[in-house]
Amino acid sequence: MHLRCIQCAATFDLHERVLACGDCGDLLEVLISDVAIDPSDLKHLWLERRMSNSGRNRSGVWRFREFLPGDYSEQQVVTLGEGNVPLVSGKKTAEWVGIKDLSFKHLGWNPTGSFKDLGMTVGMTEAKFVGAKAVGCASTGNTSASMAAYAARAGVKAKVYLPAGKLSHNKLAQALDFGAEIIQVEGSFDHALDTMLASGDDVYFLNSINPFRLEGQKTAIFELLEQLNWKVPDYVVVPGGNLGNSSSFGKAFEELTAAGLIERSPRLVVVQAAGASPFSKLYQSGAKELTPTEHPETVATAIRIGNPRSWKKALRAVRNTDGFVMDVTDEEIAEAKAMIGRDGIGCEPASAATLAGLRKLRSQGRIDSESMVVAVLTGHALKDTDFIISSQQRTEAAALAEVQP
Ligand code: F0G
Repeated sequence: MHLRCIQCAATFDLHERVLACGDCGDLLEVLISDVAIDPSDLKHLWLERRMSNSGRNRSGVWRFREFLPGDYSEQQVVTLGEGNVPLVSGKKTAEWVGIKDLSFKHLGWNPTGSFKDLGMTVGMTEAKFVGAKAVGCASTGNTSASMAAYAARAGVKAKVYLPAGKLSHNKLAQALDFGAEIIQVEGSFDHALDTMLASGDDVYFLNSINPFRLEGQKTAIFELLEQLNWKVPDYVVVPGGNLGNSSSFGKAFEELTAAGLIERSPRLVVVQAAGASPFSKLYQSGAKELTPTEHPETVATAIRIGNPRSWKKALRAVRNTDGFVMDVTDEEIAEAKAMIGRDGIGCEPASAATLAGLRKLRSQGRIDSESMVVAVLTGHALKDTDFIISSQQRTEAAALAEVQP
């Protein structure tokens, strides 16, 4: 296995500490060698590992290690037992959007409450493997919480760059709790990321431009398909911010199809918040290059990103799966979030963009009520409690206004 540039196909040693191609500057990806095991034997092996008590086998990421880089030993893997999250069927939500077979893959039910843990276990294992003493990231909150936790496990320092005043208290509290050093940057996530990259800090970078992160994140799809007994859904819907997650899902579909584990790919639908939707604009316009949104704004602070770094990888994922990209308003997100709560599931605002997107697609007649749909919830309801309380207060104020003369 090695690293390969997504643009010019230049290759690099797997463990070389590079984030971009030295020749053309584009992003790198891990090139997984052909897996020479019969698909049904693999499926059997992965199920068997669920009954083991070894750290690697218990992890819902490392259980699928035939498709992961590194060949790390049991002792080298930095894990918190991530993955193994349920697929929950929609009830009121399914009725609300008018889709009979709707379920939620809740990645918010991971150790630090978001999907980032799936990527962080692989990123941190690699950081440790190459001898890093400190790790760093910019974040809208979840990456920093996850990185801080895994860094604490690995015994390395964590340094996080955050957009000042624009992330939830709960996520900030997590980074503090896990002992990260925090640098607040004025502006958006994009400014925080630029500041970090320009800092010259001697840290191993763990944003999703790090290809090892995406390798871990792609296992969400392996686990999802396993839970569906390898029956392929018609649509998989995911919120899009920096577009690492959408990219990793596309990679999973490519690799699983190539290895004969599935016969076709679901259509990947990426949903952005209207105030931070450069990828949706790129897709709608058919433009060749992404135009960043200079001042992204949305109540879904996790996806308040104007210059998504992985847009080329995500576009490949959307195109390869005959998928599409859309955006929804903050009001639509808030309404969908409340509905997911009423279903007893709950999620953070960014995750609810998926359900909001589905409702819009149904109302426009772009998706059939008989379709089999999986919405990916990326963060736990407790990730943004201020949002819940202020929405509740607004609803109560509106109700009072109606009854008062
Ligand atoms: N949902 C949640 C809850 C997130 O935290 C993020 C990204 C996304 C969706 C979007 O995923 O960036 O891979 O397209 N959060 C990052 C962070 C940026 O710093 O925590 P993406």
